[in-house]
Amino acid sequence: MSTLFSLVLTKVAILLLCIAPISLSLTFKKIPLPTGATGPASFAFDLFGGPYVGVQDGRILKYEGPTIGFVDFAFDTPTRSKTVCDGQTNDSLGPTCGRPFGLDFNILTQQLYVADAYFGLLVVGSNGRLGTILASGVNGTRFRFLNSVGLDPNITQAILNGDATESLLKYDPKTRQVTVLLTRLSGAAGVAVSVEGAFVLVSEQIGQRIQRFWIKGPKRNTAETFITFQGRPNKITRTGFGDFLVAVNVITNQSTQDVLPTVVRINAFGTVVKRVALDRQYNDTGVTEVIEHLGEYYIGSQYVNVTFVGVYGIL
Ligand SMILES: *[C@@H]1O[C@H](CO)[C@@H](O)[C@H](O)[C@H]1NC(C)=O
Ligand SMILES: *[C@@H]1O[C@H](CO)[C@@H](O)[C@H](O)[C@H]1NC(C)=O
Ligand SMILES: *[C@@H]1O[C@H](CO)[C@@H](O)[C@H](O)[C@H]1NC(C)=O
Ligand SMILES: *[C@@H]1O[C@H](CO)[C@@H](O)[C@H](O)[C@H]1NC(C)=O
Ligand SMILES: *[C@@H]1O[C@H](CO)[C@@H](O)[C@H](O)[C@H]1NC(C)=O
Ligand SMILES: *[C@@H]1O[C@H](CO)[C@@H](O)[C@H](O)[C@H]1NC(C)=O
Repeated sequence: MSTLFSLVLTKVAILLLCIAPISLSLTFKKIPLPTGATGPASFAFDLFGGPYVGVQDGRILKYEGPTIGFVDFAFDTPTRSKTVCDGQTNDSLGPTCGRPFGLDFNILTQQLYVADAYFGLLVVGSNGRLGTILASGVNGTRFRFLNSVGLDPNITQAILNGDATESLLKYDPKTRQVTVLLTRLSGAAGVAVSVEGAFVLVSEQIGQRIQRFWIKGPKRNTAETFITFQGRPNKITRTGFGDFLVAVNVITNQSTQDVLPTVVRINAFGTVVKRVALDRQYNDTGVTEVIEHLGEYYIGSQYVNVTFVGVYGIL
């Protein structure tokens, strides 16, 4: 109840802001994707900018600023043909074209890490083009619908999660081994490692919660519920301050499965710091990721009716 109550409060606060001279919607802009590109699900930034974004037709695009816009940067499989794949919105072509669904950037090595729903964990160098597969399964079983990748601050491990296998996984670049950290997740969606590398958060869309798995310290190798939601949490990103941003789709009608897209900011103790509804710009379209970069907030959505990257100046 208290969650719903604060949601209502947030909406009231937004309405009030809109009456005031500086309206929230004035601070919203859309960066168009190239013609045919849809479903910008996840982002990453390098030292000089970006974002990089993974789209429905299997491309990873890179933003080169307002004059040039988004350009082709990389792709996940040698079988990807631009003729067949560019602009396609047919999920059945995923195994041919790839679907980069989660991104994170390794500042130390200048490499982009990619969780591809069909091809596993890949890494892409600074020149882009075809990514290199680092891991495509665990214990001889292929990953199914890998969803998200989060690097620890020291880049000693990449934390992944597999949607269909419903597990939280770790890839160690030194040993090149994948290990299972947690199983039996319910709609695993996003991962993020804490700023000091002590724990990783993993979201469960169906479970409507985030679990915290301890990587270090006295609680090492144990998990606990970090926060629960009256909605479906998707991807999680870490801010410069060590807070986390979660894209949460609140179900507003059980029979139609209509959603209210929101962003929830949580501190490292699991306390909600802010909750913002995005329906004025996103209507009832579910969102997948919110990431902060230089004081702006980039919004991702996996759906093919989303043909732009939304950027809020304040949240
Ligand atoms: C989607 O792709 C599959 C496999 O290529 C094909 O069989 C199917 O007809 C396509 N669907 C549409 C709506 O184009
Ligand atoms: C993978 O194999 C190891 C060693 O045999 C085992 O301990 C672990 O439980 C297996 N994990 C899965 C997910 O099957
Ligand atoms: C990073 O690695 C250094 C050297 O191995 C270690 O001292 C430090 O604790 C690590 N930091 C984190 C956040 O893991
Ligand atoms: C949910 O949607 C159904 C079908 O459109 C509608 O009849 C019903 O009134 C809606 N419920 C609420 C609470 O809005
Ligand atoms: C929401 O609706 C408005 C007005 O119809 C439209 O301009 C906007 O593109 C929609 N947003 C999304 C994410 O589809
Ligand atoms: C976009 O597509 C999603 C998924 O089909 C749907 O729920 C949403 O209502 C659509 N948004 C708009 C603005 O049409």
